[in-house]
Amino acid sequence: MSDPKTVKLVDESTQRSSTLPLVAGTLGPACIDIGTLYKDTGHFTYDVGYGSTASTKSAITYIDGDQGVLLYRGYPIEQLAEKSSFLEVAYLLLNGELPKPAEFAGFEHDVAHHTMMHESLKNFFQGFHHDAHPMAMLAAAVASLSAFYHDDLDVENPADRKLAAIRLIAKMPTIAAACYRYSIGWPFRYPRNNLEYVDRFLHMMFEVPSEPLQMSPVAARALDLLFILHADHEQNASTSTVRLVGSTGANPYASIAAGITALWGPAHGGANEAVLKQLKEIGTPDNVESAILRAKDKNDSFRLMGFGHRVYKNFDPRAKIIREMCHKVLAELGVSDPLLDVAMKLEEAALKDEYFVERKLYPNVDFYSGIIYKALGIPTEMFTVMFAIARTAGWIAHWIEQHETPGARIGRPRQIYTGHDVRDYMASDKR
Ligand code: CMC
Repeated sequence: MSDPKTVKLVDESTQRSSTLPLVAGTLGPACIDIGTLYKDTGHFTYDVGYGSTASTKSAITYIDGDQGVLLYRGYPIEQLAEKSSFLEVAYLLLNGELPKPAEFAGFEHDVAHHTMMHESLKNFFQGFHHDAHPMAMLAAAVASLSAFYHDDLDVENPADRKLAAIRLIAKMPTIAAACYRYSIGWPFRYPRNNLEYVDRFLHMMFEVPSEPLQMSPVAARALDLLFILHADHEQNASTSTVRLVGSTGANPYASIAAGITALWGPAHGGANEAVLKQLKEIGTPDNVESAILRAKDKNDSFRLMGFGHRVYKNFDPRAKIIREMCHKVLAELGVSDPLLDVAMKLEEAALKDEYFVERKLYPNVDFYSGIIYKALGIPTEMFTVMFAIARTAGWIAHWIEQHETPGARIGRPRQIYTGHDVRDYMASDKR
């Protein structure tokens, strides 16, 4: 028997039915195309949190959550983590293929030559209080790029879209470092074109005018690896936000700024900051047991941060790589962090606890990344900013893919209305 190519849905009360085509991708389950459902049956579909809903077709990233598989353009994350660099991965996500040496050299050159911030953008930072959260500054500064580059931006023009992608990937570390330096009252550093992407960022973060910066190659490699692992993750909340905003025709800077704000939440990219704060609160391995009890208590809103994932129900392949790297980085940098002991005890206790096993809750990408960032001297408030620098490559690749897809429409979900039926306005003295 051949596979069914359609699914028939019948409303038994009205006998109205819809025969819906199945749409298959190259990997993963086929999807029921419900585009004609409302016309055929008069019903919408309802799927809180989009647990069963594909919002788009995409050729960029593939996840198999049951098997713990993550592919960028078909390449397993493990191979990219071992052999590639963040900038090469960014090229791959944007262009679909790994670059030949000359292509990569051109891309690297283009990125290096768009790293500067407009001098007026620097003044923009002065409007913030010194203790503003860097994610707030980052979102605002990136949105403000639309004010600097609007004259030469036609979102329908492929060359303009590409230029916007280069600008965003190039400027994000410059803006991120400025957010940090503003918060500690240091002068901004200009980007140095002779350095590689991650080294350039570390110099903008930590170099002081009075002496040259001696940066450990271990730190640069660790950060590059974290950037590779965070570069894309198909239709997660922030990428879906970028696509939804992009679907209105909004410019790429506004779309990416929206992605940054979506990323900030603790259920998403804000988890790395929340993990470190939670590990500090737990304090010592002795307190792990009570933390586990709180996480299981349905009357307590406390959750183990860095645990669980909507898609991964076996393990998060990124977490596996990061865990290994965490031990290596701390050893190579000679850092001994008691929080690592707390994290390891927490992981061990959760992995054998029935509550976590039953619900398939495993450490995710954010569980160990904060300990590495901390070892590199990056302050906790900057953790989600690090995530945003890396995810910019994925966000802009999706924004471009969306614009290149024929037949794209504005994203506009429906709802189940649960408010009042129609009623007459009541004068204030009668209420
Ligand atoms: N600690 C304790 N219980 C949890 C946790 C957790 N971290 N995560 C999920 N659960 C429980 C949840 O209470 C529910 O239990 P029950 O079935 O008894 O009601 C069950 O597991 C399913 O959880 P859910 O909230 O329906 O799952 P979701 O797919 O909607 O949420 C999640 C996924 C990542 C938001 C959630 O696991 C969570 O809040 N984790 C902590 C925050 C975190 O680490 N986020 C980073 C995600 S990875 C990086 C990224 O995407 O940016």
